[in-house]
Parts: sequence; structure tokens; C-alpha cells
Amino acid sequence: MAGLMAGFGQCTHAIVRGIPASLAGEALRMSAAEVDLSGARREHDAYVEVLRTRLRLEVVSLPADEALPDGVFVEDAAVVCGDTALITRPGAESRRAETEAMKAALKDLNLNIVEMTDETATLDGGDVLFTGQEFFVGLSKRTNQRGAEILADAFKDYAVSTVPVQEGLHLKSFCSMGGPGLIVIGSSEPAQKALKIMQQMSDHRYDKLTVPDDHAANCVYMNLPELGHVLLHCTAEEFPESAKVFEKLKDYTLIPLANSEKVKVDGALTCCSVLINKKSSN
Ligand code: GLY
Repeated sequence: MAGLMAGFGQCTHAIVRGIPASLAGEALRMSAAEVDLSGARREHDAYVEVLRTRLRLEVVSLPADEALPDGVFVEDAAVVCGDTALITRPGAESRRAETEAMKAALKDLNLNIVEMTDETATLDGGDVLFTGQEFFVGLSKRTNQRGAEILADAFKDYAVSTVPVQEGLHLKSFCSMGGPGLIVIGSSEPAQKALKIMQQMSDHRYDKLTVPDDHAANCVYMNLPELGHVLLHCTAEEFPESAKVFEKLKDYTLIPLANSEKVKVDGALTCCSVLINKKSSN
């Protein structure tokens, strides 16, 4: 696997977006918890600062739009793999216009743009797990079979399998990639069931890193020239037991990032950036 996965996680650019005041009252959410807007902005600023300063990515920062309360969760508006960017058709109607600024930014980066124009299709990037070898697409409240088919058409070099998402918002609400061939997975029954399905459907063998908390299983992996394996993950304050699991990862640059406000509107760490490798050949 090491040879095949050599380029996995490499990235040079990130697209992020500011948080509008409307996030606090109008962003879609599954819980009724009150969001501290300043706290959410502080968390997001720290996240962007890590990308820009510590990881030295070229960060394209799209302005917040009050008409798009969920706009900070840029991951849902596009799936980028290699030089191709699929502009999604988000499952929530209130989020569809988020794709406009995303499309413009990806065009400016000279990526090949594919648009999901079929009005029967829906897909949120939060439902898309790219392992470096294949895609898993969660069939959720936001993403349907047609959306997965269009993704498969856009990225023909890779196998695409669908996974039912029985609980939570997205597939990546309880899993993410923690490195080449390493799936980070939550401990809940639905998360474990989804992992089993992914393992059964795949021709590849993945290692797993199980964390006690599903939210903590969403982390951001990168492989960067000066730092090697990098993982942005939950803080010990939010998820002490899960943080201990990440601390055992040797040879990683581990960067804990707070996400206690954005999580109240179902935002996880991967949701807040679209990562691009401009030096990519995969
Ligand atoms: N608040 C994120 C979403 O529901 O899409």
C-alpha cells in the first residue's frame, strides 16, 4: 500500500469561508444548543491560522455571506480529487447557492470543473470519504444514489461504493482518514456498522483507529513536505479519551483544534476546508 498511497494527503491550497452572523440563529442543526458566535469565529480563525501559518498552505478565504448561514462548511459544496473539482448539489435547498463562490474559486485555481446539474441528484461533500484508493459515499438525509453516481462519473479512475448513514448528518460525522490506509472511526454502533460495510465492499485492506467519541473521529489528515504526517484533531478539553488515542500516533505532527461551537450546528473539522494539491498528478 505504501507505494500506491505515496501522494495521499499532499496539499498545497485550502479554500475556507468566513462565518456570517446568521450562523448562530439560522444554520441548520440537529440540536437546540445555543451557539456563541464570537466563540465560533475564534475557533474558525484559529483553524484558518493553522492552515496558513503553521502548515503554510495557500489559503483562499471566501467572504462570509449572511444569506448563507452554513457557508463556512465549504466541504459540502465541492469534492476535489487531483485536478478535478466536482461542484456538488447540496441536499439542503438553503445551501445550494454556496456552490457559486466555491465554483469561482476552484476555476481561479485552474481545476477542471464538473457540475452536478441533474435536479434529482443531491450530494454533500461531508458524505464523501476519499481513501486515496477509492471513494465511499454516504447515503444520508443529504446525499442520494444519483449524487453518488455522478461522483463516480466525475472520478472514473476510482471505485465508488455507497454506505447507508443511519444516524447523524453525514458519513464523515463519525469517520475520516487518519493517514494512508488508516480509517479513524467512532465507537457507536452505527459507526462500527458503517465501517464493516466499507470493509466488506472494498478490495483494499484498511487499518482502523477507533476513538470513543464519534465527533472526534472527524479529523483532517495531510502529508506535507516539511512536517510529514499532520493530523488536525479534537482537543483534550472536548474529548479527553479520544484525544489520548491521537496522542499515541507516533511520527505525526498532532494539532488539536477546538470545535465546540461549530459542532453545535453539526460542523466538524473536515467541513471547514476544501483541500487541493496543485502539484498533484493523481
Ligand atoms: N449545519 C450544517 C448542515 O446542516 O449542513
